[in-house]
Amino acid sequence: MAQSSRTGIMLIGAPGSGKGTQAKKLKESLGYAHVSTGDLLRAAVKQGTELGKQAKSFMDAGGLVPDELVIGLLEEALTKPETHKGFILDGFPRTAVQAEALDAKVSLDKVIYMKVPFELIEERITGRRMSKSGHVYHVKYNPPETEGVCDVTGEELYQRSDDTPEKVQERLDKFVAETQPVVPRYQAKGIVVEVDGVGTPDEVFTRISAVL
Ligand code: AP5
Repeated sequence: MAQSSRTGIMLIGAPGSGKGTQAKKLKESLGYAHVSTGDLLRAAVKQGTELGKQAKSFMDAGGLVPDELVIGLLEEALTKPETHKGFILDGFPRTAVQAEALDAKVSLDKVIYMKVPFELIEERITGRRMSKSGHVYHVKYNPPETEGVCDVTGEELYQRSDDTPEKVQERLDKFVAETQPVVPRYQAKGIVVEVDGVGTPDEVFTRISAVL
């Protein structure tokens, strides 16, 4: 991939800070592609691809999938035509190595750093329910109209295998050790904006829209 003039926005933050929720809203309002490495990896696991088989054990343990696997996945995603107008990165980069690979390929316009106190994270993550098509609910904050069923597709909702209380701490530890240290790299470029991720999804979205 060569450097291009398309708009690039990154959402970075702890697991459960609302990156996926806000990325979907931004996709709707701006028409940019939503590129989530978590969604891409879950799709690979579901399809049983070689990559999915390799990634599954790391994801189930709440750890990070090795850089070389995720970087290849991301590079492929960024060649897709739907990213040509712009893209919203959700869940990448998560390590210094991934950030270096990204910066060598594309430039970012804005990094939204979603701040949510860790005390709120466990409730958000353990209450999350998903449909196979990727619609996200929360048993308390965003429940479906019919319990256990996706409003949009009618599919049964499920809980992600890494959304257990035991895995949450592991994921938060990884965030602090590996992902938080990536932020200063983008602060040095003057493109990081911290956004308070507490409040309703619409309130948070209003804050993000105001800084874009
Ligand atoms: P990924 O899917 O990226 O998970 P994550 O970063 O841990 O983030 P989450 O999806 O848990 O949370 P989110 O911030 O998107 O929050 P959401 O909007 O859903 O990655 C999963 C795994 O894949 C990783 O652990 C790793 O193994 C692997 N992986 C992925 N990318 C990788 C990479 N680059 N390198 C290596 N490995 C990688 O919200 C959470 C819940 O809260 C939902 O139920 C939602 O409805 C609710 N909610 C959202 N906003 C609000 C609000 N404002 N108020 C109340 N509730 C809210």
